[in-house]
Amino acid sequence: MDKCRSILSIDDLRDDEIGRLFYAARTIKTEFCAREKKHRHAVMMTAFFEPSTRTRLSFEMAALRLGLGVTTFVATSSSMAKGESVFETLTNLIGLGPDILVVRNLEPWMHEDLVHSNVAIINGGDGANEHPSQALLDCFTLLNHFKSDNLVGKKILIIGDLAHSRVAHSNIKLMLRLGAELTLLAPDAFQLHGQHGNVRSCAHFDDVDDAYDAVMCLRMQKERMAQGFGITDEDYRARYGLHRARLLRLGKNCVVLHPGPMNLFVEIERDVAYGPQSLIAEQVKNGVLMRAALIDHCLS
Ligand code: NCD
Repeated sequence: MDKCRSILSIDDLRDDEIGRLFYAARTIKTEFCAREKKHRHAVMMTAFFEPSTRTRLSFEMAALRLGLGVTTFVATSSSMAKGESVFETLTNLIGLGPDILVVRNLEPWMHEDLVHSNVAIINGGDGANEHPSQALLDCFTLLNHFKSDNLVGKKILIIGDLAHSRVAHSNIKLMLRLGAELTLLAPDAFQLHGQHGNVRSCAHFDDVDDAYDAVMCLRMQKERMAQGFGITDEDYRARYGLHRARLLRLGKNCVVLHPGPMNLFVEIERDVAYGPQSLIAEQVKNGVLMRAALIDHCLS
């Protein structure tokens, strides 16, 4: 590959590229069935230094569907056990020469030091910073639901641990670029300060008095809270948990998103997560399509 495209942030994508990615995700299933797999000489490597279910496996599913070879780095049985650092490990993984390396890492922005190589790096989540493929699949899910190519005039409520959520950070950027109006609901310690434009912040569910087109619930990212989080699961559920009555207040057409992993009976109740307004299962399915579109984009 002469030219490679790394995607570390939503900011790495121009508006026209985002539009093309959504289009590709909508149509890419035809490539899955093509007898001559387009990318059968390419190899994708995944290296996740933090736990993952959906992100890693949907990248791997997507790559296999497109005909790529896939190889998975497993930290516990690697030379990290002999003291090699994450950065050295990644440098060596790049040296092995995959065409694409999908990395999830605790350290924000470390990926930026890796992109000089000929390997396309895709950020599978860097600490609390960004998670661009998740935001793309979340917005893709909304666009499909609204049968639209933008979110202009759509009111979206994001509830939860905004400060520590890379999903929220990438989604806020992308949703605003697509024209949405956002409300961020979180206790003060989890709030994202300094937002402006089409963003409103509030601390109590009672302050949320509008009707919404979509609501996204986020879990408390306890692993990122060195100082403890000052709110118990029970408190959080009582103040911010999405239950049926609250969803009804947001609107009978308000759809529900959650990037997973879900903590049922904390940020979301089971009947809401699996209820008729939920798009959570769609998000999982769309994850494979969106990541296939991203892989194709990086290799094209
Ligand atoms: C998220 C992540 O890892 O950032 N999940 C995901 O990728 N689907 C959200 C989370 O961990 O809460």
